Amino acid sequence: MKKLFYLLFVALVLLLAACNSDSDTSGEAEGDSSGDGGGESAGKVEIFSWWTGAGEEDGLLALIDLFEEKHPDIEVENAAVAGGAGTNAKAVLATRMQGNDPPSTFQVHGGEELNKSWVAADKMEPLNDLYEENEWMDKFPEELIDLVSQDDNIYSVPVNIHRGNVFFYNMAVFEEHGIEVPTNFDEFFEAADALQEAGVVPVALGDKESWTATQVFENILLGVLGPDDYKKLFAGEIGFDDERVVEAAEIFGKMLDYVNEDHASRNWQDSAQLVANGEAAMINMGDWAKGYFANDLDLKTNEDFGYFPFPATDDSFTIITDTFGLPKGVENTDEVKEFLTVLGSVEGQDAFNPLKGSIPARVDADPSKYDEYGTDAMEDFKNSRLVPSLAHGSAASEGFLTKANQAVNIFVTQRDVDNLIQALTNAAGEM
Ligand code: GAL
Repeated sequence: MKKLFYLLFVALVLLLAACNSDSDTSGEAEGDSSGDGGGESAGKVEIFSWWTGAGEEDGLLALIDLFEEKHPDIEVENAAVAGGAGTNAKAVLATRMQGNDPPSTFQVHGGEELNKSWVAADKMEPLNDLYEENEWMDKFPEELIDLVSQDDNIYSVPVNIHRGNVFFYNMAVFEEHGIEVPTNFDEFFEAADALQEAGVVPVALGDKESWTATQVFENILLGVLGPDDYKKLFAGEIGFDDERVVEAAEIFGKMLDYVNEDHASRNWQDSAQLVANGEAAMINMGDWAKGYFANDLDLKTNEDFGYFPFPATDDSFTIITDTFGLPKGVENTDEVKEFLTVLGSVEGQDAFNPLKGSIPARVDADPSKYDEYGTDAMEDFKNSRLVPSLAHGSAASEGFLTKANQAVNIFVTQRDVDNLIQALTNAAGEM
């Protein structure tokens, strides 16, 4: 009888252990956004992001592994919600923040997405102490610290810098059809014509989620306006009815003549695949596509795929920086700060970024950990004008971005330049 009790007891313990491990780390928690009904138990860090699946999660999992190695006593919950550019995650996050059920830390773009949404609503803890303790003030570029600061307070820690104004291309396809890398819009459309005549889709697009089209449009705006006036546009100093914005919309319409017919049913990975398998020649995508090509599809940088700056934007670098902060109301702030410390360390950044396709946000990371794309991007970052991305939250508020995405989405099907200009002009007050 005693033995039976003992066996039942052991079975119960094993069952409880198994239940517990369901909610732990390992990147399997896709879509788990339920939280714990406010405030996590001490010893646990819930990391909220949209990095799940191919091309997205490898870097995060490497960072979590490193953190777990350093802090085996702290449990990690990977609460990622799928959907490129945070299409779904941002809505889930908003509901949780409004319901006072914040995750321990969450992915947020530096710039207006952080400042106008969460800092303005007084939902974030300042992290100045953490920056001081870790001696970070001169380890991140000043422009980047500015993007995550408001009134002398610093509100998040950047893990990376992605570049948004890049085209990736299939090298064999370019070579087979004698295509040269285009540097301006005329050369771009000449190349696109030649590819189309040869039966290749010139430009891959997957705008099932409309941010990918908004990203193309913002890069055309950058090309037409140049970095200074691009910034003025989003600072409200140049109107969306400016004739150069109209010109950009016309170029955008023309570029859409060269995309795959099924663009509306593809996401960014599906459209990048068209370039990988040679059905399409090139794609404008932030350099998370580099992570996808190299890690998920096993393609070789500068052998299978090449890259060039978006036409007419050679002197600029559209920054997309993923950052993590500490929401107010989180109980176990010490553990969260431990996570942010690892994320902001050289080791953390060099575990994450070579897999993600981005460059480290820190200035003193180890370039030998990156491939040729990475070291080229690091050079370009140093030598270019830095501009914020609209599609990825830095240039304008979420309210404006939502309306811009809707207007772009309608433009892609209707191609009505006046309508697009009108919609953007109407929304400008919300920037
Ligand atoms: C961006 C984000 C990147 C990448 C991309 C595609 O907004 O900054 O890290 O995840 O979306 O989802």
